[in-house]
Amino acid sequence: MKILGIETSCDETAAAVVEDGRKILSNVLASSSRLQSETGGIIPEVAAREHTTSIIPVVKKALSSAAFLGKKRIGKTNSEWLMKWALANIDAISVTAGPGLIGCLLIGVEVAKTLSYIWKKPIVPAVHTLSHLYANWLTDEPEPKLPAIVLTVSGGHTDIIFMKNHGEFKILGSTKDDTAGEAFDKIARLLELPFPGGPQIEKLAKKAKGLNLNLPRPLLGKKGFDFSFSGLKTAAIKEFKSGKYDKSILAASVQDAICDVLVKKTLSSLEKFKANTILLAGGVAANKSLRKRLVENSPVPVRIPPINLCTDNAAFVASYAYFNYKPIPWSKIQAESDTESSLEKYAKVEITRS
Ligand code: KG4
Ligand code: ZN
Repeated sequence: MKILGIETSCDETAAAVVEDGRKILSNVLASSSRLQSETGGIIPEVAAREHTTSIIPVVKKALSSAAFLGKKRIGKTNSEWLMKWALANIDAISVTAGPGLIGCLLIGVEVAKTLSYIWKKPIVPAVHTLSHLYANWLTDEPEPKLPAIVLTVSGGHTDIIFMKNHGEFKILGSTKDDTAGEAFDKIARLLELPFPGGPQIEKLAKKAKGLNLNLPRPLLGKKGFDFSFSGLKTAAIKEFKSGKYDKSILAASVQDAICDVLVKKTLSSLEKFKANTILLAGGVAANKSLRKRLVENSPVPVRIPPINLCTDNAAFVASYAYFNYKPIPWSKIQAESDTESSLEKYAKVEITRS
């Protein structure tokens, strides 16, 4: 089964064609992150405007790359031919319906609904909070052994999920304020580092010598698996303003505190829910310190997809749709910015803050 995935929840305009949830036939992405780096963060209206110009070329490229897979292309693909190919070969469409930036989501959702209507193809709404983890089904490695504990960490999420099976998820904990990615980005801005801040903090942290500030580990000693990173940000600002510490020491201490909380909460959820695997997902999974600590301390295998699949893309949207195949009429799909409403409306997921 070939599914066309579409993703526009944040600053990436993405489309992909995936076969049977595992084989990527095409994976195309246009990012407005260069524009965002000029402003030091994502401006929703700017990201949404970029989606409007990129979405059609990106979908077209995803279809033509899938159509010509392994074959020699002669000249420019004729649109009429491509639409005929899509009609004959694409079995379903999937789109990120939420959560995300509403102006951005709307563009992908309305394009996907239009294609579903004119092609008369089933459409599956994908919940971004869950679709990230399907990057783990798109690698060459054997399928992850379920049940799994999932740690999704990006600019948009910090969630611990218990995945009993496809379609059987429990959200064990989420952030109460900033996500881990936001904490990296906001503290990086304070240190006058460019956006996105996570990779910059990681780079700077490598230069730190000696002393590591003991920054707070919010909610670490508390029951449950929720996160909170805004207190850490306030503490880092205070230390920075004191002028006593080198930026590299601040960067190393921030990275240490964030990774410490993420790893310890993930491992304690594993202990409680007895899973066979840990699945890492989201852009912060690129952080080497996080990967190393998780791998070194986990009693079960830790799966980490390649970084281009960890960050936002449409291949994981198509894979999610294959393994959670519940098409609904296009007229019933609406972009939904809120996480809990998206999960409730489109995935019927249990949220247990245990
Ligand atoms: O998944 P992603 O591309 O987009 C969202 O859905 O947000 O994640 C982007 C986030 C940004 O906050 C970025 O600073 C963070 O991932 N990030 C990192 C690293 N690379 C990207 N954070 C820490 N260390 C990294 N190496
Ligand atoms: Zn994301």
